[in-house]
Amino acid sequence: MDIHEVSFHGGPLKGELRVPGDKSISHRAVMLGGMAEGTTTISGFLAGEDCLSTISIFSRLGAVIEREGTDVTVKSPGMAGWKSSSLPLDAGNSGTTARLLLGILAGSSVTATVTGDRYLCKRPMRRVTDPLAAMGAAFDYEGGGGTLPLTVEGRQLQGIQYEMPVASAQVKSAILLAGVSAAGTTTVKEKTVSRDHTERMLEQFGAAVIAEDGNVAIEGGQRLTAASVKVPGDISSAAFFMCAAAMVPGSSVTFRGVGLNPTRTGIVDVLIGMGADVVQNPDPDAAGEPYGDITVSAGGLKAVEIGGDLIPRLIDELPVIALLATQAEGTTVIRDAGELRVKETDRIEAVCTELRKLGADIEPTPDGMIIKGPAKLKGAVLSSNGDHRLGMMAAIAALAADGPVSIEDAGCIDVSYPGFFDDLQSLM
Ligand code: S3P
Repeated sequence: MDIHEVSFHGGPLKGELRVPGDKSISHRAVMLGGMAEGTTTISGFLAGEDCLSTISIFSRLGAVIEREGTDVTVKSPGMAGWKSSSLPLDAGNSGTTARLLLGILAGSSVTATVTGDRYLCKRPMRRVTDPLAAMGAAFDYEGGGGTLPLTVEGRQLQGIQYEMPVASAQVKSAILLAGVSAAGTTTVKEKTVSRDHTERMLEQFGAAVIAEDGNVAIEGGQRLTAASVKVPGDISSAAFFMCAAAMVPGSSVTFRGVGLNPTRTGIVDVLIGMGADVVQNPDPDAAGEPYGDITVSAGGLKAVEIGGDLIPRLIDELPVIALLATQAEGTTVIRDAGELRVKETDRIEAVCTELRKLGADIEPTPDGMIIKGPAKLKGAVLSSNGDHRLGMMAAIAALAADGPVSIEDAGCIDVSYPGFFDDLQSLM
């Protein structure tokens, strides 16, 4: 087992960071590059395990993909030139890879089986296969329970109007990407807006997407044209150090070139609401995806209530926000976040279990957590539970604890943030 110990000897965190590329955008750049005929170039790509799974799958389908560090070239014959795979397409730990891929394959001309690691094979897939089946997609459910592995036999799809029962960018994206090759118009209606990277990137690849009044529509039969994509830093990765800077007295850390898409910046709203000092400097030249610099400085932290439309804008940040709340004055309530129960782990139970080992006062609720602070945390041995974001939360918890924190199974952090511990060290 891969165990990592973090000891913090106090003192403020100071410095600058350029966090690795955005995971959601990196996946989509490879996928759309694979769908488009021609050569797509990607800079700032996240070379984390999840996005490497996406590269290996699209290579298997017929794209020639070369990577040098964070620069990636995708040369593709386009979807019409893809070939069926006799071996399963393995999405590893990546829910985004699996769900978006199911949408793309459903309307392609190939047949393939999609699988994943033991965590991904437990996560719900009906949320994508049900609407895709309504478009005419053909799935073989093997286990029958709506989980991976799943075999998709690509065929001509028909556009649908789909009202989303859960706020999920993965579901929205799977349907829209199926809509690219479907006949007629595909419309997705969202009650709460989720991250819009797919919509933005489809436009970058030359497709027309109409987003208005909570509806996103795409006309089928559009050809994607290869593009050049610049991936900004991942705000969900920066969030761990943003919370660290907010929490450790006297700290001030600047994040360079980080994504500032408004569907992702809920963490900034929460940090400001809790009393941290946050300065944002958007880059005026950013096209497609907004990005810029953010400086976070510590402040006296107070509790907040987090729910409603804010949740999809910070869903992946809730584990580290829960940790931050243990250091804030008052009772923080997180609600409307039942989706946390079907992430890489049940993040409501796992966050509460791990933070309690440090002495936090935190209670799970069906759709969130109640956290009383400030709590004096002690050192302990925590587990990542095989979940990258839990592993990083545990490491940041060491900065608020009066003894070392050991993280069991810390290797999974490479899923989204290779080099995480080096970056942590650089600020201490
Ligand atoms: C993602 C969407 C979110 C998020 C995940 C990445 C994406 O999942 O939690 O880390 O890239 O579309 P849901 O769609 O399940 O909310």
